[in-house]
Amino acid sequence: MSKRTFITFGALLFVLAVVIPWLAFRGSGDANTGAEKVPAHLKTGQALFQTNCGTCHTLYAAGTDGNYGPDLDELLATTGQAETPEAAEGVAERVLNAEKEGVDSNTPGRMPPAILNSQQQKEVAEFVGATAGAG
Ligand code: HEC
Repeated sequence: MSKRTFITFGALLFVLAVVIPWLAFRGSGDANTGAEKVPAHLKTGQALFQTNCGTCHTLYAAGTDGNYGPDLDELLATTGQAETPEAAEGVAERVLNAEKEGVDSNTPGRMPPAILNSQQQKEVAEFVGATAGAG
């Protein structure tokens, strides 16, 4: 390969591999496109949800659209969601219970129990409790 071809090819590769992705992602600002901004204390729960729950569950505030399990905005919004701290806590309890025990987890393909450790379960439950039904 001549030096010139080499340079031309290199420049082309740079445009394809660096410039185009950069242009594509620049506008969105946040790496988690689609996820809502949440208060700092809910961020860990949000990230854990995206990684561990979002493939199966839709939740607006996490920007996830899994449809293997129920849409958690729909399922949990009826509980009154974040309108009062008590309601948020009630939802969080329900989520925590599902996280610990799973749902019907003896049947393959249902909600699996204990995907996360207990600290992480609490973070996710708090996040879902405070945000389910938003949007
Ligand atoms: C492998 C897919 C899968 C993953 C991963 C998953 N779930 Fe589920 N989840 C389900 C299914 C399926 C159901 C419905 C079970 C049923 O109704 O029999 C469910 C039900 C639920 C419910 C409803 C329980 C109730 O009280 O009715 C909640 C809340 C929930 N999941 C939260 C979570 C959270 C939080 C995570 C992440 C830690 C998570 N799920 C991860 C599949 C999943």
